[in-house]
Amino acid sequence: MAKIVILTGAGISAESGLGTFRDKDGLWTRYDLNDVATPEGFARNPALVHEFYNARRKNCFESEPNPAHIALSRLENYYEGEVLIVTQNVDDLHERAGSRAVWHMHGELSRAKCADCDHRWSAPLEMTPGAPCPACNSSATRPDIVWFGEFPYHMDDIWDALRAADLFVSIGTSGNVFPAAAFVQDAARAGARTLELNLEPSMGSHDFAEARFGPASQLVPHWVDQVLGA
Ligand code: APR
Ligand code: ZN
Repeated sequence: MAKIVILTGAGISAESGLGTFRDKDGLWTRYDLNDVATPEGFARNPALVHEFYNARRKNCFESEPNPAHIALSRLENYYEGEVLIVTQNVDDLHERAGSRAVWHMHGELSRAKCADCDHRWSAPLEMTPGAPCPACNSSATRPDIVWFGEFPYHMDDIWDALRAADLFVSIGTSGNVFPAAAFVQDAARAGARTLELNLEPSMGSHDFAEARFGPASQLVPHWVDQVLGA
């Protein structure tokens, strides 16, 4: 049966109020990513980093999935082939919309981890510097987020999935950050059809066989209706 691999970025959660990174009022226009999204920044000022992720965790907790997340869950439930979401997002809106096959390549706001023993657990709404690891009591605890300079999660499985994909769809990502920005080429090389659904052309739009522009909350339900023959 056909397999659809979907890459999502901050743009799919924008209409849920979570903001994006590189749009005009995006997170990286208000915070220096070197301070809040690198291991060096965390070593320098863990309190600032926890404050940044505590604010995003609260924002996520108070937000709701939007019609784009809900449409992808409907696709997974009714499409007779396989549907896999690989997300760069650290929010849980795909899961709260009902999607089950979701791989978070940049980690998850809802998870914490220990840098000493690699234990992972559900993060409290507010994390604080040096809170002890539930498994080894170390104070080397941090958000379970993949920072710049760190290797994303699930990469071997993601590359296998891209090689097996019949259709690769990219939703709400600017195509600025690798390795995700190269997934379209990996999929196309393996023979997959490629489709971009984004508010405006991304850095990689020219690599897609087809691109549609507009808000995800309109584009994605319409595309899912087409796939399901609704
Ligand atoms: N509908 C569809 N697309 C949208 C919408 C919307 N309502 N609003 C914004 N977009 C698009 C923007 O046009 C942009 O192309 O979403 C994209 C958001 O791009 P970024 O802010 O760069 O976010 P993203 O691509 O997910 O960033 C990738 O960079 O900082 C790291 O780890 C972080 O996972 C993040 C990665
Ligand atoms: Zn530990």
